[in-house]
Amino acid sequence: MSYEMPSGMDAWWAAQPYEMWARARAERPVIRYEGNPIDPRPSFHVARHDDAVAVLRDWETFSSSINSEVIGTYMGELILGMNGPEHRQYRNLVAHTFRASVLERWDAELVRPVIDALIAGIAPRGRADLVADVTARYPVQVICGIVGVPLEDHEQFAAWADEINTGPLNPERGMAASQAMRAYLEPLVEERRSRPTGDLLSELVHAEIDGERLSDERLYGFLRLLLPAGAETTFRVMGNALFALLTHPDALAAVTADRELLAAVIEETLRWETSVTMVSRVATVDTEVAGCPIPAGSPVNVLTGSANHDASRFDDPEAWRIDRPPAQHLAFGTGPHQCLGMHLARLELRAGLDAILNGLPGLRLDPDAPVPVVAGFAFRGPTSLPVVFDPRP
Ligand code: HEM
Repeated sequence: MSYEMPSGMDAWWAAQPYEMWARARAERPVIRYEGNPIDPRPSFHVARHDDAVAVLRDWETFSSSINSEVIGTYMGELILGMNGPEHRQYRNLVAHTFRASVLERWDAELVRPVIDALIAGIAPRGRADLVADVTARYPVQVICGIVGVPLEDHEQFAAWADEINTGPLNPERGMAASQAMRAYLEPLVEERRSRPTGDLLSELVHAEIDGERLSDERLYGFLRLLLPAGAETTFRVMGNALFALLTHPDALAAVTADRELLAAVIEETLRWETSVTMVSRVATVDTEVAGCPIPAGSPVNVLTGSANHDASRFDDPEAWRIDRPPAQHLAFGTGPHQCLGMHLARLELRAGLDAILNGLPGLRLDPDAPVPVVAGFAFRGPTSLPVVFDPRP
């Protein structure tokens, strides 16, 4: 069997990859790809669900170190790039804040007030762009609040996070932002050392396991990761959920009447259109996946977006259906690096969608605006969601 890119699939980096991925799952479950402009090594793309799970659970053969190779220069020491016991220890130190039981407090004190203020700002207008006016502003403010960054500084914090994240494209700006963010956080960190307030910064500077504390490099590395990992991802999935509801009016009516259905809306959207469609690893030894030989040192891209549409797991996988029986999707990955923020993401999505349904009655797509689309390859979401609703004072 050949594992080279089949003809017709060479538009690999497309804005609408699901059709190509369906062909990949049927014809070439692992595709060898050369031509990544940033990394000249041939890489291997894993398209099927069960192969994706096997790779993500085998951290000894498929290392996460690749996640630090480029972006680590700008972000510092990264949890996403660690392996084995070192990763486990770091994760245990930072995990407390993200447990479901701790999140209840953030729900009442932070998440609901942030989303309610955003909805109150647009409710009298009768029309809005739900991306520019709501989703692009909401998770970023929640993360700033959880970290302990004053809300009035959230735009500056988000601007640094973006410059750090795009550091590989503009190294000078990326390094300057990385240093500026640390200089901004240092006095806040010092304050929390002597006077903890219950926010994430306080947790992180006092966290201790077996006498071990987070080094400064790891502390700032974690803080630099939080906005790209937690805000960019959640805001796009929220856009995808709203897109799904607005283009399925029967489901929108059902959920408006019965909010218990929100859990199904959220899980089905995570399966159908996750915002992060692939997760990277590097082979540590010569190995194989689905019979495809993979030499040591090769990047391996696990196509979680493709795995979530695998017909061996999900009937009628291209359809968005909220009556689907629950099954394990890979939107949050699996194995030792499974998303640390998944409970927070679900909570934000639930509170956000609930507030929109409560605050914007009669919500529908703006008939005078172009129909929105969900687009992107590695990160997917709608760029705008023009809507109209019944204005309220
Ligand atoms: C819908 C929204 C989200 C999606 C789709 C998502 C997706 C993912 C995925 C696929 C991974 C695994 C990466 C890998 O295996 O290499 C991951 C890890 C991670 N996520 Fe999320 N995420 C979301 C929200 C969040 C939020 C809200 C936070 C925190 C504020 C967060 C923090 C993290 C962290 C810290 C990791 C690294 C965990 C580790 O390396 O052990 N994520 N996320």
